[in-house]
Amino acid sequence: MQQQHIGVFDSGVGGLTVLQALRHTLPGESILYFGDTARLPYGTRTPEEIIQFVREILTWMMAENTKMVIMACNTSSALALDVVRAEFPVPILGLILPGAKAAVQRGRRVGVIATPATVASGAYGQAIHEIDPTVAVWQVGCPEFVPLIEGDRLHDPYTQTIAAQYLQPLLDQGIDTLVYGCTHYPHLAPVLRRLLPPTVRCINPATFVAEAAAQELQALGLQNPHPHPKPTRFGVSGDPATFTHLAQKWLGYSLNVENVHLPTVQTKPVTAQSVDV
Ligand code: DGL
Repeated sequence: MQQQHIGVFDSGVGGLTVLQALRHTLPGESILYFGDTARLPYGTRTPEEIIQFVREILTWMMAENTKMVIMACNTSSALALDVVRAEFPVPILGLILPGAKAAVQRGRRVGVIATPATVASGAYGQAIHEIDPTVAVWQVGCPEFVPLIEGDRLHDPYTQTIAAQYLQPLLDQGIDTLVYGCTHYPHLAPVLRRLLPPTVRCINPATFVAEAAAQELQALGLQNPHPHPKPTRFGVSGDPATFTHLAQKWLGYSLNVENVHLPTVQTKPVTAQSVDV
């Protein structure tokens, strides 16, 4: 039987932070990674656009023998997860619920940095308050982060300046916990950590979605029965060379990246608006 894999997608290199967590937690699984680089950033797109992009990606992943999908993108998790879950025959996991659960475990004053679309959805605030309504949550949209990260400008002085501006309202509130509400942002951890008091705990939802995926695979009996998983397969909708350059730098090994033409999927009316998980 053909080996089945876990499909992981993001708009670009952000999902690599989730890929790393999955590789650590589930070393026996084969993974198919897709970056929708031709259409990034997702964080300034409309909910309708995001839902359409996600439908196209999932349709392609189904044709590629995928047994489970991890949305390694908070924006897609916030805006499309509830809508597409009913449309595809495999378990689909998002980042918001695992991130919210981790935040309320210790945090009482939680700051969330995320894309403008994720902040506008209110998904993190809602998910946190469903678990514990007494936790205070502040969310800040950071539209400049993804273009800076995709542009390989982590160490640019401008990145430090804009990061300080984004964090200031959260520091003013005396947060005790900061959620990286976009999978690109853990790449900025050294910059952000320097700006935060040492008492502030940073939450990377990637760690927790990987744990949730492991539990779900076990509960559904979907673990890979083969002892040797295939190396991760990478595909992008844009220029493979740009993605390869950044991804190799962050992952520390060389990759082959395919150019993927996503299938055309007819636009459907959105029947259920998502907030989470
Ligand atoms: N990394 C994605 C997220 O977690 C998308 C960022 C973007 O393309 O704006 O939201």
